[in-house]
This record gives sequence, C-alpha cells and structure tokens, in this order.
Amino acid sequence: MADRSYSLVTGASTGIGLEIARRLAGRGEPLVITARSAAALEAVAAELRRLGSPAVVVLPADLATASGAAALLDQLASHGLEIGTLVNNAGFGAIGSFVDLGEAEQFEMVQLNVMSLVQLARRLLPGMVARGHGHVLNVASVAGFQPGPWMTIYCATKAFVVSFSEGIGRELRGTGVTVTTLCPGPTATPFVARARMSTTLLSRTGNVMEAGAVADAAVRAIGRGGIVVPGFVNKFLIQSQRVSPRALVLWLTSRLNRARGLSPVASGPRSA
Ligand SMILES: NC(=O)c1ccc[n+]([C@@H]2O[C@H](COP(=O)([O-])OP(=O)(O)OC[C@H]3O[C@@H](n4cnc5c(N)ncnc54)[C@H](OP(=O)(O)O)[C@@H]3O)[C@@H](O)[C@H]2O)c1
Repeated sequence: MADRSYSLVTGASTGIGLEIARRLAGRGEPLVITARSAAALEAVAAELRRLGSPAVVVLPADLATASGAAALLDQLASHGLEIGTLVNNAGFGAIGSFVDLGEAEQFEMVQLNVMSLVQLARRLLPGMVARGHGHVLNVASVAGFQPGPWMTIYCATKAFVVSFSEGIGRELRGTGVTVTTLCPGPTATPFVARARMSTTLLSRTGNVMEAGAVADAAVRAIGRGGIVVPGFVNKFLIQSQRVSPRALVLWLTSRLNRARGLSPVASGPRSA
C-alpha cells in the first residue's frame, strides 16, 4: 500500500492534462499519468519530477477501448497505488455529421469521454469515501451545455459529463469527497486538429484560451466542487444560452460548427 495518495491524470501527455499535471507536480504531489503514447508520457514524467513531484508513475492505456479503463485500474491495484485525486481529462472530439463520421471513431469517443470516465470514478470513489477524503476533477466542456449539431456526439458526451458530475457531487456531499467539473471553451491544444476543426475560425473569434490558463483555473477548483468555466467570455456565453430560446441556440451552434468544419483540416484521417 502506498504511503501517500497519488493524483491520477488521464490524458497527461499534451494540452490541458499536461498543464494540470505540471501544476500538481509543482505542488509536490505524487502522480500517476496516463495516455496512449508511452514515449510521450516518459518525457513528461521526467519533467514532472524536475518540477517537484516526488514520484511519477507512467501507466500507458488506451481508454477508448472497452478494456482500457479496467486494464489501467488493474495496473493501479497491482502497483498498490492509492488514488486520492482523479483527474478525468482524456477526451477527443470530431466535427462532421452524425451519419458521415466513422462509426468506430464515434464509438471510441463515447468510450473515452463517457464510459472510461465513469469506470474510473466508479472504481476509485469507494476508496476515497472509505478514507473520508478525495477529489475528482472531470473535464467536460462549454459544449456540454447545449446540443451541438455537426459535433453532436461530442457535445452529448460532454453533456453527460456535466450531468453525471453534478449528480455524484451532490450524492457525495458530507463524505469528504469533492467532484469538480471543468468546462473549458476553445483552448489551444492538439484537440483542435484531432477534431478536424478550423483553427482560422477559432482564432477569428478571439476566444481561444491557453491550456496553462485553463489548468490554473482547474487546479484552483480541485477540492471546491461544482462547475468551473474558465474565462469571462465562456462564462458569459454559458449564461446567455441558458436564457435564450432553444431553437436559437441550436441554430447558432449548428452554424458555428458547420463553419468550424470547413477548414482543410476537415479532410484529415478518419477511422472506419
Ligand atoms: N481544447 C479544447 O478546445 C477543449 C475545449 C473544451 C474541452 N476540452 C476537453 O479537454 C480535455 C483535454 O483536451 P485537450 O484540449 O488537452 O486535448 P489534447 O491536447 O488532444 O489532449 C488529449 C489527451 O488525451 C490523451 N488521449 C487521447 N485519446 C486517448 C485514448 N484513446 N486513451 C487514453 N488517452 C487518450 C492524449 O494522449 P494520446 O494521444 O497519447 O493518447 C492526450 O494526452 C478533453 O476531455 C477535451 O474534450 C478541450
């Protein structure tokens, strides 16, 4: 059994997850980091140790497969690693119509963004509750607050994360375990290219945050519970769509997502 609880960060090799891991390392936290690329994780681990983490364990896993989360959990158990903070960050999106996007890619998105996130929480929360202490940070998105035609599956997965996190957060009140939901808006990370979104349109809106700023807000919010939306513009957009007619919100998100997908990036690789 570990002397001290570890923070587990999924998707720690790039983007927001990497920036969160850097900040947790700077606070002197022992870390378990995961993503698919073992080589990228090893390089990150060396940096995290330099930043002040007393122990960094690298456990590569493909969380978009049906057995990925279970395999990761088995690895944690076999190493005797106790998780005190779970950062469910790994996720991806894809732009395009529901009937045109590859089926395999869509199912992988649901598996990664929803199923693996739930599996990790389901298996790690009982230990936290038994110890009377622990934190979960689930990464959703501003896309989780409304349907998003042309990015329908992605938005639906993030709506699930918002609803799921708020629900369990409430159930866990008084247990010493907190659940925080991070809802970033557009953020400059490799996510944008993988989703085949137009960077041109994103930068024209002027509302693209740096991953470091998003991670600052995220790490500050760990332990507080509730929803955190980094950036004033993102906060404003969430509030304004809440009081707008649903049909108007659908029309706007539809137009925005169609325009975002018109970049040359949209012809990038697809799975099945
Ligand atoms: N960037 C944005 O505009 C934005 C906005 C709102 C919400 N978000 C959310 O923020 C979270 C982090 O995204 P990001 O922007 O930081 O993206 P990113 O830079 O592409 O990072 C994604 C991370 O997840 C890992 N990952 C991807 N597929 C995986 C798989 N099948 N199994 C395990 N790990 C996997 C990646 O590493 P490997 O490729 O090596 O596996 C990487 O470490 C996601 O949940 C995303 O939905 C992003």
